[in-house]
Amino acid sequence: MLSALTNILTCPVCKNGVTVEGGTLCCLGGKHRFDLAREGYVNLAVGHAPGGDSKQAIAARTSFLQKGYYAPAASALEKAVRDYLPAGATLIDAGCGQGYYTNRLAAQGYGTLGVDLSKFGCARAAKDASMQSLDKAAYAVASVYTMPVKDTSVDGVVNVFAPCAEQEYGRVLKDGGYLFLLGAGPQHLMGLKRAMYETLYENAERADLPTDMTLLETRRVQFEITVEGQSDIEALFSMTPYYWRTSEADKQKLAQLDTLTTEVDMLLYIYRK
Ligand SMILES: C[S@@+](CC[C@H](N)C(=O)[O-])C[C@H]1O[C@@H](n2cnc3c(N)ncnc32)[C@H](O)[C@@H]1O
Repeated sequence: MLSALTNILTCPVCKNGVTVEGGTLCCLGGKHRFDLAREGYVNLAVGHAPGGDSKQAIAARTSFLQKGYYAPAASALEKAVRDYLPAGATLIDAGCGQGYYTNRLAAQGYGTLGVDLSKFGCARAAKDASMQSLDKAAYAVASVYTMPVKDTSVDGVVNVFAPCAEQEYGRVLKDGGYLFLLGAGPQHLMGLKRAMYETLYENAERADLPTDMTLLETRRVQFEITVEGQSDIEALFSMTPYYWRTSEADKQKLAQLDTLTTEVDMLLYIYRK
């Protein structure tokens, strides 16, 4: 619910604080108003071209994640957040997508603001939060590079398979706040690649790791999944960058499978500002 997090939000136009009146987010400067969408999120991507994941991409990822394939990753992320921050702390999930991880953190008592450029992602996430009566989850359409959030106002930033905007995360984090960065490890989805490609490469280290924050620890999250049925296999494939750069011939190899067993290998970096 947006009203639970107005204390950290700013107007994207004049940067004043905001309040919620009925179904509208109003800036305290008295000039700018943003209607909440039916699902409860607010679009604060002022002057930004529509972007982020498409309706289809959000639907595919929602269906895949709701089946629990990545539940061990979500549990590992929640444990890391709990290890560093008490319930009641305020988090941003930057690039939250459909809010799978965000809503799980809100269910554990964290105040969570999900930020994503995809209005389809924010709509799905806000709807799920409302269905689960998660009063402490709120969603705003915005870029992770220019978030409508006050300086030094949040205890943690969570970032799962989304762009790492170090400077902006550093701006919104309190001094001593934490950044939890979860992304692909070297062996991530090797089984998916094995099903399509002759030559296999490990994933290289991500290029956008923070340089101005202190790395406290790196946790490796590894488990195996068996994905059942073509529609789940296709959904997983569509969540990867390979979806856009695989030849039709190689895609056909995947299209013939009924089940797919693959390694899941993620790296969880924990930084302190
Ligand atoms: C791979 S998805 C991950 C979504 C979610 N964190 C998860 O793991 O389920 C990447 C997300 O980042 C969002 N995204 C990409 N660029 C962005 C930007 N500049 N600002 C905000 N969101 C962005 C996309 O819309 C998409 O929802």
